[in-house]
Amino acid sequence: MNGELKELKLTINGKPYELKVKPQALLVDVLRKNLRLTGTKQGCLTSSCGACTIVIDGKAVKSCSILALQANGHEVTTIEGLADGDKLHPIQEAFIEHGAVECGFCTPGRVMSAKALLDENPNPTREEIREAMQSNLCADEGYVKYIEAVEIVVKKTQGGS
Ligand code: FES
Repeated sequence: MNGELKELKLTINGKPYELKVKPQALLVDVLRKNLRLTGTKQGCLTSSCGACTIVIDGKAVKSCSILALQANGHEVTTIEGLADGDKLHPIQEAFIEHGAVECGFCTPGRVMSAKALLDENPNPTREEIREAMQSNLCADEGYVKYIEAVEIVVKKTQGGS
């Protein structure tokens, strides 16, 4: 009825996974429903809001915009992969300390966009931060705080105060 299940092999947060998925399954659904990685949020499902943003091979990707099978063989990082045990990732810490969390729904997607940006460009300008995060929509008007939180991470990692 839904087509034959296909094998999917990928690495998520450093851990290898092998599972069978429907060919038409979206990556966001496989992460949330099959693998219970519910930190990745599901909002619009039309590739507009950015709530489902994850990192694939170092690039921020909206996981509702691709099929799970398109991630076959790739390295996926979700919000669950950022903290080191009880120690939050510096981006997560900065978001909390700077009050850039708001209702929290769009936060994981924003954090993942910030991670992809800072991994590629550890010293971005405000404009580059704004650009990297512009596809993460927020109903709570927290845009400036998000940008400032990323700037705090940049300052800390670049040896500033
Ligand atoms: Fe993927 Fe909105 S749920 S962009």
